[in-house]
Amino acid sequence: MELEKNAYRAHCLALTYPVQGHINPLLEFSKRLEHKGVKVTLVTTHFISKTIHKEAATSSIALETISDGYDEDGRAQAESIKAYLERFRRVGSQTLAELLEKLSTSGCPVDCIVYDTYLPWALDVAKKFGLLGAAFFTQSCVVNNIYNHVHKGVLKVPLSETEILLPGLPPLESQDMPSFIYDSVSYPALFDMFVGQFTNLGQADWVFVNTFYELEQEVVDWMAKLWPLRTIGPTIPSMFLDKRLEDDKNYGFDIFKPNTDTCMKWLNGRPKGSVVYVSFGSLVAFEVEQMEEIAWGLRMSNRCFLWVVREAEEEKLPKNFVEETSEKGLVVRWCPQLEVLAHEAVGCFVTHCGWNSTLEAFSLGVPMVGVPYWSDQKTNAKYIMDVWKMGLKPPTDENGIVRREAAEHCIREIMEGERGKEIKQNAFKWRKLAKEAVDEGGSSDKNIEEFVAKLVHS
Ligand code: UDX
Repeated sequence: MELEKNAYRAHCLALTYPVQGHINPLLEFSKRLEHKGVKVTLVTTHFISKTIHKEAATSSIALETISDGYDEDGRAQAESIKAYLERFRRVGSQTLAELLEKLSTSGCPVDCIVYDTYLPWALDVAKKFGLLGAAFFTQSCVVNNIYNHVHKGVLKVPLSETEILLPGLPPLESQDMPSFIYDSVSYPALFDMFVGQFTNLGQADWVFVNTFYELEQEVVDWMAKLWPLRTIGPTIPSMFLDKRLEDDKNYGFDIFKPNTDTCMKWLNGRPKGSVVYVSFGSLVAFEVEQMEEIAWGLRMSNRCFLWVVREAEEEKLPKNFVEETSEKGLVVRWCPQLEVLAHEAVGCFVTHCGWNSTLEAFSLGVPMVGVPYWSDQKTNAKYIMDVWKMGLKPPTDENGIVRREAAEHCIREIMEGERGKEIKQNAFKWRKLAKEAVDEGGSSDKNIEEFVAKLVHS
């Protein structure tokens, strides 16, 4: 819905962290706010705004940019993650302040900054300008609860215990922890960033999490005692859930160009529930050995498959794999994932368990085979299998590799086994609950309504 200038009830800036898996949820949240009469200006970096696939430019949301200090090549230009984050903090704070001044003098003042929690300094900028600040967590409550316990010093790293007991969570093993906690030394800058999300959170006026209450009830209740925490997800475009925003065809910010026609034509010719969809998101870079094992597992499962292999990963596929499997398989560089998951031909999703992919599978009722790589993915995979019972996690060998037989077994179990039947029933249940949460009057919808009401009256 386009809003005439001055016709809106309040104005939010939505500041994104510049990677695909973080821009999309904040963009979709922004659209929900606009639908309720709040103007939203999405803010990303100069560099990312140049690389976004052109369809995004026609989205109804206004777009502005700030600098992360690396306008030519973004993160790739920095000598380290630490250097990138430090410069982003410094240059980002300054250019965000300049943007606020520009919007104010052009008659479009801002009331509230909704910021990705990877950029906690944005809350300091908001407060300096006397604005409201809303934190936006793109990862699950479970994972954030774990990071907060590290921040508080309750959970000490390096981990000494093998069984971790935290409020709101079932007993977890150390290898179920987010990788930056399980292995806190390999990526110190990322460890600091994740734990640093909580440093000034006490000053936030709202804390939003891209999840839904019914999925993480216990941990949401626990965390809501600490902050004004509200679940607002899943931030899946409504067109995939309930057709409420049917006119909205621009449902994503694609940094990669999707191979839409090829994928959809290929899927259209396949029987219901017959296809294994495989994708490891926008960042994961498996070892060659792991890619080969997955390729073999797929072949051995004897199922049709659609596999997204990003351009930079293509050389890791076994020699002649694409040619030799062309009767059963299609390999593309990027696809319209939501459309693919919504297609009736897809019966199983082999995923790295990134939080967006996980929520998308829940929302569209597609059972998962979890092959996590790092970050929150291991914790998500544990929950998918043992708590939400929405998929299977193949065991790894002593080198952490999922072998072909294990991958094949899990795919077969989901597609044709007894456990698959139970998982499909659960998938149906979760799909219904996810949709109800964002439907009018649902748990997430009510939370967004409450935010809008307070924003307008503040
Ligand atoms: C990152 C982290 O890796 C993840 O662990 C964290 O939870 C969020 O940020 P990413 O690895 O890219 O994200 O994974 P994910 O969260 O699943 O997001 C990928 C997004 O890209 C999804 O929204 C998915 O629909 C989209 N996608 C993926 C496509 O549109 N097409 C594709 O071909 C593949």
